[in-house]
Amino acid sequence: MSKLHPDVENVLLSEEDIRGIVESLGAQITRDYADKNPLIVAVLRGAVVFVADLLRAIDCPCEIDFMAVSSYGEGVKSSGVVRIIKDLNTDITGRHVIVVEDILDSGLTLSYLKEMLEARDPASVEICAFTVKDIEGHVSPVTPRYVGTHIPDAFIVGYGLDFAEHYRNLPYVGILKPEVYS
Ligand code: IMP
Ligand code: MG
Repeated sequence: MSKLHPDVENVLLSEEDIRGIVESLGAQITRDYADKNPLIVAVLRGAVVFVADLLRAIDCPCEIDFMAVSSYGEGVKSSGVVRIIKDLNTDITGRHVIVVEDILDSGLTLSYLKEMLEARDPASVEICAFTVKDIEGHVSPVTPRYVGTHIPDAFIVGYGLDFAEHYRNLPYVGILKPEVYS
């Protein structure tokens, strides 16, 4: 176990927790997509750490591609405006697509992305979210088929998740101390 970062309040998911989550998701995807050669679409940059582990937990033929979107800028709240910064290199017509994201918060980013990809005539589009933030009174506009784990309504960092591009390199997921962003 690595030393706790001073900006982190507490560890929410340890490296061991994360291993268990990734293994379980990999097994589910392997079972559901055994003969479908899915295209794993990782959303840059937050999903990079997660997708690298998830890919190795999937035990069937699959491919990977990347998209970059921006919904937050440098802040901690979703603006609702999703910009495509990098599009796929792969033609997804007739393909089974699995969009891999680090976190579903308001769900705005993923619902926008799913709609955009569905307009390209793929065979299917499903979402695999490493974490889903449970926000009281909020109903997400999109439901991921695969959910790693639910987390409380706090700002988390690590394992790919950032605040203003920092902390992505932490091997665990932790709650950021509010004084760091307020
Ligand atoms: P949504 O559109 O509100 O679902 O926001 C999704 C995006 O916001 C994610 O891909 C993350 O980049 C970012 N995000 C939302 N909540 C957090 C958090 O707690 N920590 C770090 N990034 C977050
Ligand atoms: Mg981010």
